[in-house]
Amino acid sequence: MSREKIDLYETAVTETLNQHASVRAFIDKPVPDEMLNAILNAARRSPTSSNMQTYSIIVVRSPETRRKLAELAGNQDHIEQCDLFIGFLADLNRLGIASEMHGQPLAKSLESTLVATVDAALVGMSVQTAAESFGLGAVMIGGMRNHPQEVADLLGFSPGVYMVFGMSMGWPQEELGAKPLKPRLPESLVIHHEQYSQDDPRPLIEAYDADLAAFYGQRNQHTAAWSGPIAKRLQKPSRPHLRRALEVMGFHFD
Ligand SMILES: Cc1cc2nc3c(=O)[nH]c(=O)nc-3n(C[C@H](O)[C@H](O)[C@H](O)COP(=O)(O)O)c2cc1C
Repeated sequence: MSREKIDLYETAVTETLNQHASVRAFIDKPVPDEMLNAILNAARRSPTSSNMQTYSIIVVRSPETRRKLAELAGNQDHIEQCDLFIGFLADLNRLGIASEMHGQPLAKSLESTLVATVDAALVGMSVQTAAESFGLGAVMIGGMRNHPQEVADLLGFSPGVYMVFGMSMGWPQEELGAKPLKPRLPESLVIHHEQYSQDDPRPLIEAYDADLAAFYGQRNQHTAAWSGPIAKRLQKPSRPHLRRALEVMGFHFD
């Protein structure tokens, strides 16, 4: 596509999305409260399944709590080193109380677990995009699901609440826009038109492996390319404890 065409279809939002990169290194400068409020309140406009709003957001600034969260996430230092940590919670607790107010039990199901998880993810993505539009850096932290009960205990969650993922946020050491962007899978592998493509994806996966290896090579990171590490990682189910832990915390899977 020509540069003119790209410009024609570029807005402030697509520009922000087009320069997204996860940030794990921050400078020691606080995020103003008013800026954080603007980000969180814009994100609260996110779509939500049937307007049920089955999510909550928790902001953690306490260094001691963040130290413990970093440990629970597998020693992810950026949780301690960022300016603030935000957790995105699937929250069926509030819905249960609303139901109780009308003398009704809340029937939980796989669907309510998914609805709450998707709602939390959508608001989390909006927070990341809004933050990046201010020049802030952030990274999502799925490592919060390593020890979901411990995270819930540490932050005082009610039953029916779990952290889907967290986010480290602050002013980036390397300005967004200057930071090299991690390549994505080729467009034709992920965007289908009308029918799911039955073309052999292998040549494009190999091309992407080469792309990603070059990206890591430029940054002197000796990380292998895409398909190999993914295959290795997914030989066994990841976080096999998760279903049982979330059931104990009040989520259903049937
Ligand atoms: C739900 C979710 C969980 C993630 N969890 C982690 C994490 O625990 N630690 C981390 O360093 N990055 C985490 N990431 C960031 C991804 O590794 C990153 O988005 C991906 O490698 C693509 O790189 P980019 O965002 O810089 O383009 C997570 C991303 C998502 C969407």
